[in-house]
Amino acid sequence: RYEKWWLTLGTGALVLFLFILGVSAFHQGHKPPSAKAFINPERVDATAPFDQPGLKEVTGKDWDYELVIVASAFHYEPGEFTIPKGSKVKIMATTKDVIHGFEVAGTNINMMLEPGYVSEYVTTLDQTGEFLIVCNEYCGAGHHTMKSMLKVV
Ligand code: CUA
Repeated sequence: RYEKWWLTLGTGALVLFLFILGVSAFHQGHKPPSAKAFINPERVDATAPFDQPGLKEVTGKDWDYELVIVASAFHYEPGEFTIPKGSKVKIMATTKDVIHGFEVAGTNINMMLEPGYVSEYVTTLDQTGEFLIVCNEYCGAGHHTMKSMLKVV
């Protein structure tokens, strides 16, 4: 008779634990990207738009530019890019190997790039300057050398 109670209690605790885990994962910074699409991490180079990393001007969309980023140990493609001030940009990023970060210092752009997923973030760049992009997920021996540069002009 008591066993039933323990079972209920145990299940309840488990559900609560998973719930807390989910909530904390959600709040853990890396505010969840607006959308996550799937991609085959082994075929990133052959999958559009990641076959052509870089900045593209687009028309007929809610944003002016699309920035396609491919991360791999230990660099980003492209290694540097320039965007006109005031542009609304959709960033689409993925990784070819392990988890990398994509943090644009001095802005609120901060994504986690996971193999098999496309991380997306739409933002308007209102401030001119040079913004260092760093990897904030430990990814191996070259982690600290992993950088790119965003120039807003
Ligand atoms: Cu890539 Cu740390």
